[in-house]
Amino acid sequence: TSPSVATIAAIGAHEGQTVTLRGWLYALRESGKLLFPIFRDGTGTIQGIVPKAAVSAETFETIRQLTQESSVIVTGKVRADKRAPGGYELDVEAVEVLQRVPEDDPFPITRKEHGVDFLMEHRHLWIRTPRQSAILRIRAEIIKAARDYLDDNGFILTDPPILTPAACEGTSTLFPVDYFGDEAYLTQSGQLYIESTALALGKVYSFGPTFRAEKSKTRRHLTEFWMVEPEMAYAGLDDLMALAEQFLSFIVERVLTRRALDIAVLGRDVAKLEAIRAPFPRLSYDDAVAMLHEAYEKGLAPELIQSKFEYGNDFGSPDETYLSSQFDRPLMVHRYPAAVKAFYMEPDPENSKYALCVDVLAPEGYGEVIGGSQRVASYDLLAKRIEEHHLPLDAFQWYLDLRRYGSVPHSGFGMGIERVVAWICGLEHVRETIPFARTLNRIYP
Ligand code: 4AD
Ligand code: MG
Repeated sequence: TSPSVATIAAIGAHEGQTVTLRGWLYALRESGKLLFPIFRDGTGTIQGIVPKAAVSAETFETIRQLTQESSVIVTGKVRADKRAPGGYELDVEAVEVLQRVPEDDPFPITRKEHGVDFLMEHRHLWIRTPRQSAILRIRAEIIKAARDYLDDNGFILTDPPILTPAACEGTSTLFPVDYFGDEAYLTQSGQLYIESTALALGKVYSFGPTFRAEKSKTRRHLTEFWMVEPEMAYAGLDDLMALAEQFLSFIVERVLTRRALDIAVLGRDVAKLEAIRAPFPRLSYDDAVAMLHEAYEKGLAPELIQSKFEYGNDFGSPDETYLSSQFDRPLMVHRYPAAVKAFYMEPDPENSKYALCVDVLAPEGYGEVIGGSQRVASYDLLAKRIEEHHLPLDAFQWYLDLRRYGSVPHSGFGMGIERVVAWICGLEHVRETIPFARTLNRIYP
């Protein structure tokens, strides 16, 4: 019988057996009469060992001639080895080469340092490297965890449209689309629609791509990103903050238990992730500003805080970095001045100058990963807000209906998948968190 086909991630189940792996050559080291090919198959990497005496001269030579990313079907015996990153090595017995990458047109991504532009230009190939593959597997785990949490806690998935007639998050970042002669926009957020499904179904969520014509280059912004948005009827800001901390803790824990090997590939400090447990610290905007002022006056973080924060502004990246670096868990900043936040946020009944909103700032300077609020419940107030924000009242009539017919307090947030991937993986830039990042300067490949 022919050996069973195994995957590298699950190879432990075949210890002592001869298996077949279907993958690619990632790297090859030669040391005297020994070859050390490293194979990858999409689930992970494994080192093979090929002593010259153990295989035919032809097999030895075939492996010796393998070039990076040549596609190969490898047969070998699985051996436990404590020093191996995945715990196993493969005593190679045979290889079948499907396509050998020619020397004169080698795989462009070598193990030397490449510039970011070169890597992004070759993103379709860059994703094959172990680090990028690990990030993509973790991304998938984060999405699965987010969905599992919501599915298992009574939230119904409702998909909002991608093509929309109006803005949700300000008119300056809209992507217009010609819709049979009318102007439509790619969605910035599913929120307005899931407010309506929440009033139909109670607890709902959406998960999908969202678009913003972000004209600035930052390490946190994409023009196309994926958001998961839970929305709950009969829920206020406190319920929302409780959900946010449970949700994020669950996601981090899931990644730690299911993707430990990938986290190790990235060299991520696991202790920092293990600290992510509810409850999270909560700080009002006013208290956060007081912290920034103190930092400025005492010169606590001169590289971040160079001038006195102007009360009433939204926080900039350095401000968020400073605030979040004061805590070992995500920081929930609530009750920002209504003036710097979106039109749909419910004012604080204690002081209408503030909005009942929360931003969750990830530790280690990763910035805002979640933004959400309680929603305006009053028809009159919402209509007034829409006008004040110069939004087209006509396009929002259906949204106002939610306040005409059985309005209730309701709340929700949006979590940006890429921001969370960047934080959990410990990445410098969100461009590595998604298979094909869309940014101000790049729409290729
Ligand atoms: O804070 P934002 O703009 O909130 C909303 O869109 C609400 N309508 C969500 C809701 O209440 N249902 O965006 C939510 C999150 C941010 O916290 C951030 O994680 C992510 O989406 N985000 C981006 N991620 C990558 N690139 C961008 N340009 C992003 N803009 C927002
Ligand atoms: Mg926000």
